[in-house]
Amino acid sequence: MAEPWWKSAVFYQIYPRSFADSDGDGVGDLPGVTARLDHLAWLGVDAIWVCPFYRSPMTDFGYDVADYCDVDPLFGTLEDFDRLLAEAHQRGIRVIVDWVPNHTSDQHPWFMEARSSRDSPKRDWYIWVDGDPATKPNNWKAAFGGDAWSWDEATGQWYLHLFLPTQPDLNWRNPDVAAAMHETLRFWIDRGVDGFRIDVVQGLTKDPAFPDDPPGQILPHSAVNNCAGTHEVLRGLRRLAEGYSPVPLLLGEVYLLSTATVAGYVGDGDELHLAFDFTSLYAPWDAGAWRACIEEVESEFGARAAWPTWTLSNHDNPRHRTRYGGSERRARAAAVLLLTLRGAPFVYYGEELGLEDAAVPPERVVDPGGRDGCRSPLPWDGGPGHGWAGAEPWLPWSPEPETRNVAGLAAQETSILHLYRRLLAARRASPALSTGSWRALEAPAGVLAYERADGEDRRAVVVNFTAETVEVALEGRWAVEVDSDGLEAEGFPGRLAGDAAVILRPRVD
Ligand code: GLC
Repeated sequence: MAEPWWKSAVFYQIYPRSFADSDGDGVGDLPGVTARLDHLAWLGVDAIWVCPFYRSPMTDFGYDVADYCDVDPLFGTLEDFDRLLAEAHQRGIRVIVDWVPNHTSDQHPWFMEARSSRDSPKRDWYIWVDGDPATKPNNWKAAFGGDAWSWDEATGQWYLHLFLPTQPDLNWRNPDVAAAMHETLRFWIDRGVDGFRIDVVQGLTKDPAFPDDPPGQILPHSAVNNCAGTHEVLRGLRRLAEGYSPVPLLLGEVYLLSTATVAGYVGDGDELHLAFDFTSLYAPWDAGAWRACIEEVESEFGARAAWPTWTLSNHDNPRHRTRYGGSERRARAAAVLLLTLRGAPFVYYGEELGLEDAAVPPERVVDPGGRDGCRSPLPWDGGPGHGWAGAEPWLPWSPEPETRNVAGLAAQETSILHLYRRLLAARRASPALSTGSWRALEAPAGVLAYERADGEDRRAVVVNFTAETVEVALEGRWAVEVDSDGLEAEGFPGRLAGDAAVILRPRVD
């Protein structure tokens, strides 16, 4: 059987509010994405994941969905989506949409109906618990602070929300909920999408006894919930997906669990196709930490014959350049790492420019989860407005938009943007890099070296996590294929500058 397309794909995450604005209101939109697809084609990505653009009151910037089957006017129309999909497909770029099944908006007609009365036929579509306003059902905390329960004055019950009070949790144990949510998947599959990024997979079902979290636990309940019933929900989604040809990709966000637990969400090949393992997103700039992380992923995902995922940045966490101390050299070396590991790499919009988080002054903070800094608008050029004509964008720019922008970096062969493009091209051209095996090589302290291989095709990758130049003596003779500095480097055995990385190919002369 042919390998599925996503096994060799590099994904690019678009946060649509911040990517490109077509109507000058300061908020990005779908026609904006369509207008900039040529940038992504030039870069060489295989697929885009577009964060939520559905009808929403935007209390969680679209992760509070009021209609799963329509586009919020802020982002455009269904026709705009169809155009985006067609134009992306024309460029050979697949499109994954976000799907938010754990909760709806409190403005979703389902919740409004459920909330209207205890006798509402939709009451049981959400999670209600009896009690009195002074005694919460248990000690669960919500993801952005406060309790995970809100008291509904009118009907005298508690409802559960693992996130904001405006994001009531759906009751996935009710078959009518599953059926209605399945219909929303079919809606987008029928429109032609290539798959789904599924939000908050680890939270989908809850222990019906609602036991207290252990005393002293500091994580919100959404991060630790990991209930057996969720695997049944996923098997249902997979059966639905398998009814289509081609089978849409099911990519799940499984937050903050161990790599072993995350890998379990692929089931026996009958649940998720891909599961986000965020240990890479939290790994510090340290060779030992990265080696441990990679080896654990290799072993846990390997045991299940599952394809891993790699993420350095996303819309919920500080950008990796910022996490790694603000150094562009480290951001470049990290790009070599991300794009040469065994598994699906996810590039977060703007990391190809080496963006840092924006400094957001208190009066411009808008996100209840404190994530504004990593959601700054993408600067397209060095002119006033940086390609965002009209109103000032909804969030401040990351540092240096005058020079650190798409047009500016595209004009410089040695820029980080060209490095990303070269890395994507090198990965596509080499079976070893795109789908080959991974094994660690001996390396000096502070340096991570590994080999990727597929039959005769071999590459070595060396990443220097220290600030000092190191001598690296690899077995065999190697030539430099891509260098994170964007310069012609020496071959190996040889020297590697501090905070730098190289892809090597066997030397034939
Ligand atoms: C996921 C999303 C995050 C959102 C949350 C609630 O973690 O990535 O942005 O706030 O779910 O939907």
